[in-house]
Amino acid sequence: MTCRAARAISEADLLVGYTTYLNLVKKMDCFHGQETYATGMKHESERVIHAVDAACRGKRVAVISSGDAGVYGMAGLILEVMEATGADVPFEVVPGIPAANAAAARLGAPLMHDYATISLSDLLTPLPGILDRVGAAAEADFVIVLYNPCSARRQEPWRQALSIIKKHRQPETPAGIVRNAGRAGESVKITNLWHLENDEPPDMLSTVVIGNSRTRVVSGRIITPRGYEL
Ligand SMILES: C[S@@+](CC[C@H](N)C(=O)[O-])C[C@H]1O[C@@H](n2cnc3c(N)ncnc32)[C@H](O)[C@@H]1O
Repeated sequence: MTCRAARAISEADLLVGYTTYLNLVKKMDCFHGQETYATGMKHESERVIHAVDAACRGKRVAVISSGDAGVYGMAGLILEVMEATGADVPFEVVPGIPAANAAAARLGAPLMHDYATISLSDLLTPLPGILDRVGAAAEADFVIVLYNPCSARRQEPWRQALSIIKKHRQPETPAGIVRNAGRAGESVKITNLWHLENDEPPDMLSTVVIGNSRTRVVSGRIITPRGYEL
């Protein structure tokens, strides 16, 4: 979280978010008993409509996303709801730290060159389109960051994505899994493409980074060289 985000939360009258994220915010200094409105997964529209409605009634509202609100977060949906309802209220996207970058920092410097982030969640995006993007990113030798890798009921996108990536990358290509980056219970694992396919799959609290053809591991840290001559 950035200082600006903590200040925006502190100055808000109403905090709106996914239950898990509001519970995290409630443990922070920026929480001092503000009113909250929480809903579970798959109730994003309801949550945002409530937030926009409250803002139209004069409340200062902070809608909480994890990482950056504009990266698979709530910023776009809020603007769409404002468009659909004609709501005319002051609006600001407060930038945060995307999981890709928080995870990369823990792993070393895997994103020193061009990278693509791809969400494997097919709740809102048809799977064939997701897999086309995985194939294009792998073929173009992007470092690949996989968000929403696997859930208890959704393992197929993960398996299919890996089988596409391995057509373009060596099995020993470095990879990293960061779970709960920057939160209590954080874990960091440096591994490789072969192990990603053969070990226990990561869960929804994890972000996965798969190196490009030049990525290597040095002293327990992943480096994707930018091309400097030493
Ligand atoms: C709906 S996306 C939200 C992304 C977020 N807005 C961002 O900027 O990173 C949820 C996914 O982000 C990743 N994620 C979010 N927070 C994370 C964290 N603290 N550690 C690791 N991965 C995280 C996971 O892949 C998770 O399944």
